[in-house]
Amino acid sequence: MRNECILVVDDSPDIRFTMSEVLKTKGFSVESASDGQEAIEMLENRFFDIVLTDLSMPRKTGMDVLRYVTENSPETICIIITGFGTIQGAVEALKIGAYDYLCKPIKPDEVTILIDKALEVRDLKRENRSLKKELKSRYGFDNIIGTSKPMQEVFRLVEKVADTDSTVLITGESGTGKELIAHSIHYASDRKDGPFIPVNCAAIPEELLESELFGHEKGAFTHAIKTRIGRFELANKGTIFLDEIGEMSPSLQVKLLRVLQERKFERVGGVKTISVDIRVVAATNQDLETAVKEGRFREDLYYRLNVIPIHVPPLRERRSDIPLLAKYFLEKYCKGKRKGVQGISDEAMEILVRYDWPGNVRELENIIERMVILANGDIITKEDLPLQIVEKAGCSPGFLAVSGEAMEFPDEGLSLSQAVSELEKTLILKALERTGGVKNRAAKLLKMNRTTLIEKMKKLGLMPKSKKAA
Ligand SMILES: Nc1ncnc2c1ncn2[C@@H]1O[C@H](COP(=O)(O)OP(=O)(O)OP(=O)(O)O)[C@@H](O)[C@H]1O
Ligand SMILES: [Mg+2]
Repeated sequence: MRNECILVVDDSPDIRFTMSEVLKTKGFSVESASDGQEAIEMLENRFFDIVLTDLSMPRKTGMDVLRYVTENSPETICIIITGFGTIQGAVEALKIGAYDYLCKPIKPDEVTILIDKALEVRDLKRENRSLKKELKSRYGFDNIIGTSKPMQEVFRLVEKVADTDSTVLITGESGTGKELIAHSIHYASDRKDGPFIPVNCAAIPEELLESELFGHEKGAFTHAIKTRIGRFELANKGTIFLDEIGEMSPSLQVKLLRVLQERKFERVGGVKTISVDIRVVAATNQDLETAVKEGRFREDLYYRLNVIPIHVPPLRERRSDIPLLAKYFLEKYCKGKRKGVQGISDEAMEILVRYDWPGNVRELENIIERMVILANGDIITKEDLPLQIVEKAGCSPGFLAVSGEAMEFPDEGLSLSQAVSELEKTLILKALERTGGVKNRAAKLLKMNRTTLIEKMKKLGLMPKSKKAA
């Protein structure tokens, strides 16, 4: 038994009967209609995978059925049954969107082969669509987490530049998400159906990088036994992502400059000039301006690359993104593992927010993955965190639970003393909350003595001045 449903539409009872019998023996569930009107009414009520329809019929014709299907049920495959005299009509039907046609008299084998093929094509299309969707969701903005101001600014820039062909230079420390940003530029651009070709300039030995980028002709050097297409050619109509561009040797920098200027190059050992239509996105965790000053990076190349600079800030400069990222990775790693971790305790989260993350988002992702595997209960607590993170987070001097970095500084400025008072109030209330209102212990947490705390609370309006302190 198969899942697909087929609707046979023909005004001839004989054809309806034979077709239905043939298809039923192949395991399809089959229904039939004796004219176009009846078929459309049936299509209004339920989904058919395939409609096999005659063309000339009373009331509504096969063309009407086909038009209804293309407009209202584009997933349904429409196959036309045509008599000798209506071939022209079948050709018209193909133009409107019929999958194929069958000529009367119909041979049972022909019908089943055609239907099998049509379903196979449809399944492939579906699979392709879902793969594309998956790619889009992997690299679309949906999967780049960041509500902090600096990340919102990055997203705004990405959206703005995606649809241009301008060269983009993404800078930022290791693990900040440069490659993710490069992907999203490609997938938000008109080139999204073209290739995205990454090249890690630091990972490929210098002597191989040239042929990797530009390709080589057979016999160009000792081991060049075949002609090889380089990454620039592979990226035609798409985007080439030159990662770790700061590591490129001076001689290759010259060659790269020419491609950026002219979009033209020759394969190693070749004489033919090859033109490509590419968008270049480069990334580096180095300070290229300093590299230019020190003579390690060509100035002209730097300016060619730095048309649109996008700087991805380190995680410690956007701490407000940490809880969201942590939850995102927690979900990601719990999904595949059928583990019962539900969340992260407030205390553990506070430590994650406080820690400086020298390895940025990648380090956070790795730590969360490890904790999902190792956690003892269904909540990740301080005890589950790696000791070095707890220790380092604890000794960040001057850190405030209400991170100063996360605070918005109003355009019109603010009264510092008032802001400090507000912060004092918040922290005192938090300390009291933590100690269940016991001022002695709250004072200890705030590293002050009890009387000073009470004085402060009075001053800040946190307790009636007339009342005796508890
Ligand atoms: N904003 C973000 N939202 C979700 N995941 C992120 C984000 N930023 C980074 N990641 C994840 O962190 C990891 C590191 O990101 P990526 O490889 O893009 O960093 P990078 O800046 O290219 O690092 P490197 O300089 O070391 O190559 C990846 O697994 C990526 O998916
Ligand atoms: Mg990278």
